[in-house]
Amino acid sequence: MDLREKILKLKQEKDALILAHNYQLPEIQDVADIVGDSLELSRAASNRKAKRIVFCGVVFMAETAKILSPASKVLIPSLSAGCFLADTVTAEDVRGLRKKYPDATFVAYVNTSAEVKAEVDICCTSANAVKVVQHLPEDRPVVFLPDRNLGAYVQKASGRDDIVLWEKGYCYVHEHIRKEDVLRRKQEYPEAKVIAHPECRGEILDLSDAVASTSGMIRYARQSSAKTFIICTEREMVYRLKRDLPEKEFIPVSGAAICKTMKTIDLEKLYQTLRDEVYEVNLAEDIINRAKGSIDRMLEVL
Ligand code: 13P
Ligand code: SF4
Repeated sequence: MDLREKILKLKQEKDALILAHNYQLPEIQDVADIVGDSLELSRAASNRKAKRIVFCGVVFMAETAKILSPASKVLIPSLSAGCFLADTVTAEDVRGLRKKYPDATFVAYVNTSAEVKAEVDICCTSANAVKVVQHLPEDRPVVFLPDRNLGAYVQKASGRDDIVLWEKGYCYVHEHIRKEDVLRRKQEYPEAKVIAHPECRGEILDLSDAVASTSGMIRYARQSSAKTFIICTEREMVYRLKRDLPEKEFIPVSGAAICKTMKTIDLEKLYQTLRDEVYEVNLAEDIINRAKGSIDRMLEVL
């Protein structure tokens, strides 16, 4: 029996749900029950009520699954699967900012630790950030954490000029996508539509036909009459798009856009996780309850 077959067998025996983010390696996407964006996966986890959830993604995503499904045993195959962006802000930072901006509404992107989610008023995702901010009281400023590029995009799209950004917050994968990369691809594929993740810098978003979360990219490409798309996000997204829409063509903006921590999960680690039930994601009950409050308030807006 090969590794893939062993994984599928163990998954059934243990009543485990395998969730994989759109940036996971192709072989992981292929054995997963659901492949999706960060929020979609956590919502799927809470709807399915599986005994065990194996989250192939980064730690904040597995934590979000635990917050939304506290009765399930949530496992992540790699302890090194952190998120560079989520690590740019701590709960202590938020408490400090609260003193500086006592009247502000605090919004945290889901790419944050459970402790940070527990300190803020409301969460958002790349798919709903603009909508969440538009829904907030207009007579109080907004502190938007941690992604400065997503925050700047929200500022522009919502027309609000009272949004405080966290200058330390960015994702290196998206930050390093260059204007020249997009222009070169546009020259190579003049008919193509450009789709960018809102974690990209403003000059990249300005060159794009659509700004979307990873799953929003799939929806946009499906509905578009265009046949070719230049994809400005992590490299593996192209695999997911090709799998769903084989009749269309997807071009990665740059082969260098790789989330290194996402790639610390492979079939061997996934197998070990199912076999040995490591590494379990545990959170204090108080953190779960407070973080869930911020996520629930976001879900009410949708
Ligand atoms: P999505 O929610 O769009 O999948 O984004 C998560 C992420 O980490 C992007 O870098
Ligand atoms: Fe975090 Fe960036 Fe990786 Fe997304 S791509 S998980 S934001 S480090």
